[in-house]
Amino acid sequence: MSIFSWKSHGKLERHSMLLLIGIVIVVAIGGLVEVTPLFFLQNTIEPVRGMRPYTPLELEGRDIYIREGCYLCHSQMIRPLRDEVERYGHYSLAAESMYDHPFQWGSERQGPDLARVGGKYSDGWHRDHLTDPRAVVPESIMPPYKFLAEHDLDYHDLQDKLRAQRIVGVPYTDEDITNAVADLQAQDDPTGSAAGLQKRYGDKVVVRNFGGDPSRVTEMDALIAYLQMLGTLVDFATYKADAPANQR
Ligand code: HEC
Repeated sequence: MSIFSWKSHGKLERHSMLLLIGIVIVVAIGGLVEVTPLFFLQNTIEPVRGMRPYTPLELEGRDIYIREGCYLCHSQMIRPLRDEVERYGHYSLAAESMYDHPFQWGSERQGPDLARVGGKYSDGWHRDHLTDPRAVVPESIMPPYKFLAEHDLDYHDLQDKLRAQRIVGVPYTDEDITNAVADLQAQDDPTGSAAGLQKRYGDKVVVRNFGGDPSRVTEMDALIAYLQMLGTLVDFATYKADAPANQR
C-alpha cells in the first residue's frame, strides 16, 4: 500500500515530519517549474535601443550614490501605474537597469523616484540642492552633502571597477578599460577633446563641468554626471513597446 493512496493519506496528516517532507517535495516541484526555464534562456531582458554601459565618470558617481545611501530614500523604478507615470514619466523598462550591478530600484520613497531625474534640473540646481537641500526646497528633509564638492574623486581603482563590472556581464571592452581614466577626465572637461569618450560611449554622452570647479574632479562632479544621465538613455519619443526587439 503506497502512501499516495487515499486510505493512507491519514498517515501524512497525523505525522508532522512526513507531512513536512511531502510539502517540501511539492513546493520544490513548483519552484523548479518556475525557475528552470530561466537557466536555458540566453537573456531574460529584452534589448532596447539607446542603452549603453555607464561612462567611467557616471560609474564613479553611481558608487557615490551607493556609498551615501541615496537608495535608502530614493527609488529608481517607476511602476506602470497611472499616478506614477503621470508624475515621473514612462514606466521603467527592465533594460534600463541591465547594466546596474547592484540594481538601484530601492524600496523606500522618502524622496521622489530618481529613475528619470536626468535633465530635469540644471547642474547648478543639483549643486545647490546637494550642498543644502533646504536652500532650494525649504520643506526638504534630505540631508546636505556639501562635502562632496570638497572631496577630490578617488579613481585610482577605476580600471578594476570596469573589470569587475565586465565579470558580471557589462560589455566593457579592453579599449574602454585602457582609456577609462582619460574618458573620466574628458567627460568633466568641456574645454578638452571628448572624441574618444564619445566614440566609445556614443555621441549623446554629456560633457560638462558638472560640479562647477573646472580645476579638479570632485565627488560632486561624478554624482551629478550620474544623476543627469538617469533615464535619458532610452528615447521614449521613438520607443515602441510592441515592436520586435531590433526595432525599438
Ligand atoms: C533622508 C532621506 C534622503 C536621503 C538620504 C537622500 N534624499 Fe534626496 N530627497 C529627499 C527628499 C525628501 C526629497 C524631496 C525634497 C527635495 O527636493 O529636497 C529629495 C529630493 C531629491 C532630488 C530632487 C528630485 C526631484 O525630482 O525633484 C534629488 C536629485 C535627490 N534628492 C538626490 C539625492 C541624492 C543624490 C542623495 C544621496 C547623496 C539623496 N538624494 C539622499 C530625501 C533624501
